Formats: sequence, structure tokens, C-alpha cells
Amino acid sequence: MKYIPEPFKIKTVEPIKMTTREYRQKAIKEAGYNTFLLRSEDVYIDLLTDSGTSAMSDAQWAALQMGDEAYAGSRNFYDLERTVQEVFGFKYFVPTHQGRAAEHIMSKLLIKTGDYVPGNMYFTTTRLHQELAGGTFIDVIVDEAHDPYSRHPFKGNVDLKKMQKLVDEVGAERIPYISYETCVNMAGGQPVSIQNARELKEFCDKYGIKVMLDNTRTIENAYFIQQREPGYKNKSIREIVYELCSYTDGCTCSAKKDGLVNIGGFLAMNDEEFFVQARAQVVIYEGLHTYGGMAGRDMAALAQGIRESVATDDYIRYRVEQTNYLGDVLESYGIPHVVPHGGHAIFLNARAFLPHVPQEEFPAQSLAAEIYVETGVRAMERGNVSAGRDPVTGKNRCPKLELVRLTIPRRVYTQSHLDYAAEGIAKLYKHRDKIGGLKFVFEPQMLRFFQARFEPLPARPMKAEEMVEEEHLRR
Ligand SMILES: Cc1ncc(COP(=O)(O)O)c(C=O)c1O
Repeated sequence: MKYIPEPFKIKTVEPIKMTTREYRQKAIKEAGYNTFLLRSEDVYIDLLTDSGTSAMSDAQWAALQMGDEAYAGSRNFYDLERTVQEVFGFKYFVPTHQGRAAEHIMSKLLIKTGDYVPGNMYFTTTRLHQELAGGTFIDVIVDEAHDPYSRHPFKGNVDLKKMQKLVDEVGAERIPYISYETCVNMAGGQPVSIQNARELKEFCDKYGIKVMLDNTRTIENAYFIQQREPGYKNKSIREIVYELCSYTDGCTCSAKKDGLVNIGGFLAMNDEEFFVQARAQVVIYEGLHTYGGMAGRDMAALAQGIRESVATDDYIRYRVEQTNYLGDVLESYGIPHVVPHGGHAIFLNARAFLPHVPQEEFPAQSLAAEIYVETGVRAMERGNVSAGRDPVTGKNRCPKLELVRLTIPRRVYTQSHLDYAAEGIAKLYKHRDKIGGLKFVFEPQMLRFFQARFEPLPARPMKAEEMVEEEHLRR
């Protein structure tokens, strides 16, 4: 196990509260056993998400002071536009306040009722906006992505045979674009390869289908390409990012992740007509096209964040290897989790952790709540609750992956924080047979994982055959 030393030193600190088990038992009950409903001040180590939780650099804080808060034509807009063009290579840029706003505008403009939108696994907000625009999401990720223990180096890749099947079945004219995500979140932060991006673009060009990148974690994805893909060892992260984007027609981006800021997002594209339409929509939903829901200072911090993320390879090496370290420590304790390790998070396999809890009783949701009670660490469910109900049948979607995500904020926690989290989870693993499932007491219709409330169900004993299933799952 190796912890890559931080390529920065700490200038400002934020105290965090240490609490007792009794305190946390009360807090999680009040939060309806949903970690999204906990107060952040009741959390010791917050591994809920890497979204908007990065620590900014001194240069970014300085940039905030340089915010040009003009309603129209802010200097920071032009700087950000130029930075996005230079780093990602797209011709046109439309700012939004965060990623889902860009998804909303893109889905509204590109999808017609009855269309199909393939994607390399779903993302919650992305799929919802596709459905609200009248589209049907189709999963075309490689099969290995649904297997938590497959060691495929690029489990985020699109399976072109699945794309061909979809084209044959519904016709290319009903497929406006493919949503192509880098470091696929719901698969465990799994990357795509450059080869897959190139082949996908060739395929889509043949049929007139656009490739729209979900650019949220492209910097992390570039690191995996550098480490794993033949021919990329000596290329810089900046070069790889640029090349990857060149095989797409545009992107949506939640800049709250790799962009190293607390708020921000954008759309970018090469098609002028799409750009003109997106600019018209942003004025309706977000704000004028030269700020799109961000303050001038937010745009200044984002431009600086994007530059920092590709300035040298040191930052991203530390970032991804820190995540890998947490995975390695959990591995040493025998805790079941998705491999290979993703770039932004380690995903615990809740089905193997709690084989005695049926998926209809939300084992990942329950495990996230128990991790909080045991350790004060906040994690997030990424399983049956996040997947929601099928809009046609109304049944729970019951995805193959039933996961708890331990997400690492960028430049925030130290090695001892991660050691503490892993040790606590290992302790919980020893008495996991005492953990039961949950049932809904409040279930929102859309994106239910954010606000749902639950009550605990009694734990039932772990049966011998469940232990066997667990062994099989862990291989
Ligand atoms: C892959 C991916 N796409 C889109 C989004 C949505 O972005 P936002 O939360 O900024 O609205 C996220 C956020 O977690 C994400 O991880």
C-alpha cells in the first residue's frame, strides 16, 4: 500500500466535530436513515460526494477577488470560455450553474418524444432529464461494468455491438446522441479508453448520431488512460484530455468535480446551430449567456481550477492514487468492494457485505446509515434506492450493482482520515450480521434518494447459503 504524498501544503484548516455513537444513532434516526438528510456539522469525515467539496487553491481564492460582477459581458466569462476551448477543444461554450442544468438544456434541445438515448450506464440526473424530454435511456456499457469483480481495465467502455443492436431495432433517426460518460460514476468510477472513444465516434458518424460527452470526470479518466492504455504512457494529462474530447461532438459538465470548484457547470459543442439554441435556452432557465447562473467570481475560480487540473500531472496522480490507497486498505481488511478502484471513490459491494438483506430492503442504504453510526463517516447509497422505479412498470429497478460510495473530496482529507474510515468499516464488517434492512416511510417520485425517509427492519440471521453466495460474489 502506497500513499502518494500531497503536491500541496495546508494553509487554512476547518475544524470538524467528533461525536459519540449515541449522538450519531439519534442523528441518523432524525435523518430518516438517509445520509443526505444529516446535518454536515454532525459528520466527522464527509465522503458523501466529491461534488462541490474540493478545497480550492490559493490562486483560486485570489481569483475570487477578481470577479467581474457585471450583468453582461463579464471578463471572467471570456477567460473561462477561452480556457474551456483550449483545454477541451470545443468551439462553443455555454455556462450553467451546475451539471444538471446543462443536461436539462441538452435533453430539451436534442431529444424528441419517442427517441432513444444510449449511454454507458445511467447517471441519475442525466437519465431523468432524458425521460422528462420524452426519451428512453438504453444502457450500452460493456457487460463487465455490471460485475463488481471483473478486472477489465476500461469497464466504462461502450459495447459497440449493443449500439449496433439498438440502431437495427429502432433506427438511427430515433437516436439523437449517445451520452458518453468518463470515469462512469454508477459503475464505480470506471474509465473509458481512447480506443473505445475513437471507435464509437467512427460508428456514430456513420449513422449521424452525436457523441455527447459527460465531461464531469475526464481529467481522472485521462490518468487511467495514461497508466493503462498502450501508447499513452508518455503523453501528458492535458494531451490525453484534448484527444479524448476530439472524438466527441460536445459535452455537458458538472464542474463541481474535476473543475475543482464548489459550484459551476457548462455545455460545450462544435455545432453552431446547437450552440445558438443552447444560448437561447440558458437565458430562460439559468441567466444571461455570459454567466449562466454563476457569479463572475465563480467563473474566475473555475477557469483557474481547470487550468490547475491539467497544469502538471502531479495533482491528478495524487488524487487518483489517494482513492486507490483507500481501496487497498479496505482490501487488506477483506471488505468487499468494486475493482479495479475508481478515480473518485471506492464503492463497497453491499450485496456481499450484507448478503442476508434482500435488495428490496435496500442493503446499500442501510449499510451507509450503519457506517455513519459506527464511524461518523458519511457515505452515499448507489443501488436500488438511487436507481428508482421503472416509469412503465412502477417496480424498483433492482440494479445488479448494490453499492455504497465512499467518495473522496479533492485535496481535503489526509491519509489518517482514510485509515480511520477504513478501520471503522472493518470493525462494522465483523458484526454485519446484526444489520437489518430498511423500508420506505416517505418516497419522493423523482430522484428519490435525495429526500427519501426510512425505518429500520429487524435483522434476520445470516444463513449458511448466503455465506456461500457471498463467497461466490467475492470470488
Ligand atoms: C457523471 C455526472 N454527471 C452529471 C452530474 C450532475 O451534476 P450536478 O450535480 O453538478 O448537477 C453528476 C453529479 O454528481 C455526475 O457525477
